[in-house]
Amino acid sequence: MENFIIKGGRELFGEVSVSGAKNAAVAIIPAAVLANDIVRIENIPKISDVSLIIKILDCMGAVIKMVNADTIEIDSRNLRNISVPYELTSHFRASYYLIGALLGRFKSCEVAMPGGCYFGVRPIDQHIKGFEMLGADVNVVNGMVCAKAEKLVGTSIYMDVVSVGATINVMLAAVLARGLTVIENAAKEPHIVDVANFLNSMGADVRGAGTDVIKIRGVEKLHGCTYSIIPDQIEAGTYMVAAAACGGDVLVKNVIPKHLESISAKLIEAGAEIIEYDDAVRVTRFKELNKCNVKTMPHPGFPTDMQPQMAVLLSVAKGTSILSESVWDNRFQYVGQLTRMGADIQVDGKLAVIAGVDELTGVKVKATDLRAGAAMIIAGLIARGETVIEDIQYIDRGYEDVVQKFEALGADIKRIEIAETEEAVNAG
Ligand code: EPU
Repeated sequence: MENFIIKGGRELFGEVSVSGAKNAAVAIIPAAVLANDIVRIENIPKISDVSLIIKILDCMGAVIKMVNADTIEIDSRNLRNISVPYELTSHFRASYYLIGALLGRFKSCEVAMPGGCYFGVRPIDQHIKGFEMLGADVNVVNGMVCAKAEKLVGTSIYMDVVSVGATINVMLAAVLARGLTVIENAAKEPHIVDVANFLNSMGADVRGAGTDVIKIRGVEKLHGCTYSIIPDQIEAGTYMVAAAACGGDVLVKNVIPKHLESISAKLIEAGAEIIEYDDAVRVTRFKELNKCNVKTMPHPGFPTDMQPQMAVLLSVAKGTSILSESVWDNRFQYVGQLTRMGADIQVDGKLAVIAGVDELTGVKVKATDLRAGAAMIIAGLIARGETVIEDIQYIDRGYEDVVQKFEALGADIKRIEIAETEEAVNAG
């Protein structure tokens, strides 16, 4: 096991290049099996969630070839195994996309209920409702989602909640269904559009992705393609918040600035300056941080996956900020870690009241989930003294080369074996 050790208090300067989007990659890779052909996917992020989904496809009989560091080819022509056990899905939320992809191609699958970060009950009732409305029988038996259909037939599906996963999963199941499927109250996140563009590159007919209504006209079959995944909105946002929280001047490269508007708006309110270029944003902050209120919402609102990172910034801003979480029931579990570092945060249900303090102090903290882990890194970077972050396997799920990227900005951050950490802490 490994930890991160961070010596805080440095401003950040330089450039960081953002990797491919995790939440697009974990949908596009399983979606590739819909083609019964060879699919080449570029700009794949090197993160453990992607390694896991590739391993699952490999176990199912797909032939995966690494073309270069960020490009893979998936040949699913001989894929036969449509049963995915819990051992493979337990650490991984997005394994639910295998249900839509396998149901779409084989009209049958058995996939263990997904695992992943816990921040409240994470039901998949809207996914199941969508599959059933397309004509599948879906049963959850001994923790396995068993879905079967003689044929899938397009219909109109209204989502009771705005769900990224259910919107994508229904798209996957519908591209090879007969006739027209209409998803109403669809999620609009950038990766929804990316998945739709990928499906269309394979010959699907998906329109309206990025709006509330997505129309999918079923086609007979899909073919192979070459597709490049969009940059990761949340990784970009994490470096933007880190730059604003630490102070300094950072160019975040390989981004789509449009995807970052809600984050930029809040950082400007908090005292940072942002300049947008075609495919980069520059974040500078030399004056004091101000309080600001933030409410998370589905896209184009402020992303819930940026909420913990923003909480860290606000914890050292002048004044009291209100942070309101409207997507997940229980996404403030990391707050206890921050208060141990000296933050003054009161949580009441889905609200956090953050009274800015002068400084945070380095202590030993845990990454309680992926984005909370990213927040702990930012907290360590601004804290006085040394911060040790445990359970960094969560961070590795979604951030490629995080140590190297922060080091290149001048941060003092190291990844070390736990035994080494304990020695260092005891010594110092
Ligand atoms: N919901 C339901 N029923 C469903 C599906 C969702 O009630 O069938 C509820 C959820 O409980 C939640 C809300 O709807 O309250 C939104 O959930 P959504 O389905 O949009 O979340 P998800 O697809 O499971 C994805 C990202 C999450 C991100 C959310 C919201 C992936 C693999 N995960 O999860 O990302 O927080 O959308 O934007 O795409 C992360 O990257 O750290 C992460 C957790």
